[in-house]
Amino acid sequence: MIEKNRHLLRLADWSEERILETVDIAMRLKKEVHNGQFSDRFHGQTIGMFFEKPSLRTITTFQVGIHQLGGAAVLLAPDSIGLGKRESVHDVATCLSRWVNALVVRCFKQELVEKLAEYGNIPVVNALTDDSHPCQAFAFAQTIKEQVGDFKGNTIAFIGDGNNVANSFLVLCAKLGMNFTLACPKGFEQPTSVIDEMQPFFKQHGTQYRVFNDPKEAVKDADILYSDVWVSMGQEGEKDSKQSHFLPFQINDSLLKLAPAHCKVSHCLPAHRGEEITDSVMDNLKVNLSFEEAENRLHAHKAVLWQLMTPTSELGK
Ligand code: CP
Ligand code: NVA
Repeated sequence: MIEKNRHLLRLADWSEERILETVDIAMRLKKEVHNGQFSDRFHGQTIGMFFEKPSLRTITTFQVGIHQLGGAAVLLAPDSIGLGKRESVHDVATCLSRWVNALVVRCFKQELVEKLAEYGNIPVVNALTDDSHPCQAFAFAQTIKEQVGDFKGNTIAFIGDGNNVANSFLVLCAKLGMNFTLACPKGFEQPTSVIDEMQPFFKQHGTQYRVFNDPKEAVKDADILYSDVWVSMGQEGEKDSKQSHFLPFQINDSLLKLAPAHCKVSHCLPAHRGEEITDSVMDNLKVNLSFEEAENRLHAHKAVLWQLMTPTSELGK
């Protein structure tokens, strides 16, 4: 049985209070770094990083953040480890649990992060799977708090694929009292299990989950438009067909004009300029918060680890 609170496997496992506390820790750590102060919280501790998929932001900011807090990051090599092929997931997780204080994992299957958490004895952080991207949601939450002020009552319109990033943002909105709107082509909606699990939170906050197949409908009452690539990592074979479905779902100046005047835009990045978002929106830094959010990945990751790290004296127990 996995102790859900000991890991960040899915944002849905964390309470509203814990999410808000983590955002506050991230904001404090950001302020400290900007003032030239560095905590020694991770002194003597080591975090393993296992990335099966490419990354710029996540792989860099975890390493920089761990370094800023006095710890060390070890990049593990998926090809060399051969998880589940050269050695069982169980044995790899058991060995790693005797060496490192936490494990940050980017992989295809959500099941793999869950198994590493189940078989090991150290916190596991989901750094993106095909199903979810909770770390991105933390950086987005911090950006909203900094740029908009409050969470409650905001409407986030996600224009794109109903997969990993959208799933974690749906959860973030449900838990923090925001409305979540998805605009996607038919057939690219979010799994009903994710929506159903979050309906009680929307009900509790009096907020709404909506889906439109027309992006123009989705942006009308939005406070923030969000964008993600049309073709996610691992889906390269579906590129042509996905691009043809998603063509009308581009965030461009015409779409932005249909949104309220105060509406901002963000993107998890990498952005495929000219596809899901235009240069004109990306380069409009009065509107585009993507780079603020990218900066916040650094502090969000430190805050997540701050909440989770296992003391070295408990490794292997
Ligand atoms: N947004 C995000 O996770 O970026 P990377 O894939 O570069 O890590
Ligand atoms: N949906 C994208 C997110 C990248 C951060 C992907 O999975 O490739």
